[in-house]
Amino acid sequence: MKIIGISSSPRGKNSSTLKLLDAALKGAEEAGAEVEAIDVAKLKIKFCTACDSCYETGVCSIKDDYQAVLEKLLDVDGIILSSPNYITNVTAQLKTVFDRSPLVIHEQLFDGKYGFSLTTAGSSEIDFVLDIMNNFMAHCGGNNIGGVGCAMSEGPSAMETAIEKSHEMGKDLVEAIKEKRPYPEQKAAHEVWREGFKYVILANKDQWTHNCDYWMEKGWIKE
Ligand SMILES: Cc1cc2nc3c(=O)[nH]c(=O)nc-3n(C[C@H](O)[C@H](O)[C@H](O)COP(=O)(O)O)c2cc1C
Repeated sequence: MKIIGISSSPRGKNSSTLKLLDAALKGAEEAGAEVEAIDVAKLKIKFCTACDSCYETGVCSIKDDYQAVLEKLLDVDGIILSSPNYITNVTAQLKTVFDRSPLVIHEQLFDGKYGFSLTTAGSSEIDFVLDIMNNFMAHCGGNNIGGVGCAMSEGPSAMETAIEKSHEMGKDLVEAIKEKRPYPEQKAAHEVWREGFKYVILANKDQWTHNCDYWMEKGWIKE
């Protein structure tokens, strides 16, 4: 079983959010997973240009570090997303990765994967930022087991608690993957999304040939 953790703070090894990610990956490793961390803030990942060619070819037309990140994400069973709160959002570095991933959303390429999210903030909006990351995972077809955050204004003991919770959630991610933990509400939401998006795929079937072939292969559309 493989689990990847994405960090996205520009503060590198001084990042508080990275402390949560390190604890989560340690927990996952102790529970038996092979773990890897990627710092997307250190990579060269350009903005999506909305060329739409990935829908036609299944490959992003921009040649940079994104492709290697995507290959790793597709290869793992579990994904831990992490970002500090930057203006009640994730960092631009992580958002750029999200924006480069419309193919993952169109083809639900995280179907069957599990994940959770981590954040730290100066003071507030922890849940809002966790939701942004968990929404991305859900949009890509994956399952979320939760999230952990910490407001730095609450002091060192709050951070210690968040580190411990991240460690436990890392272990729990391994269990969720092992037992293929059912999340009926998330499954229902995926089905509702696919039912609606089917018509978008069909409306664009002459241009989005890769998407269309993929949906037929999966049996999500019949013609
Ligand atoms: C550009 C920028 C924007 C920020 N925006 C917010 C914010 O909207 N709300 C908040 O509570 N903290 C905000 N912060 C504080 C960071 O979220 C906080 O210091 C966080 O713990 C940094 O995590 P890191 O050490 O992993 O980079 C911001 C910090 C920066 C540099």
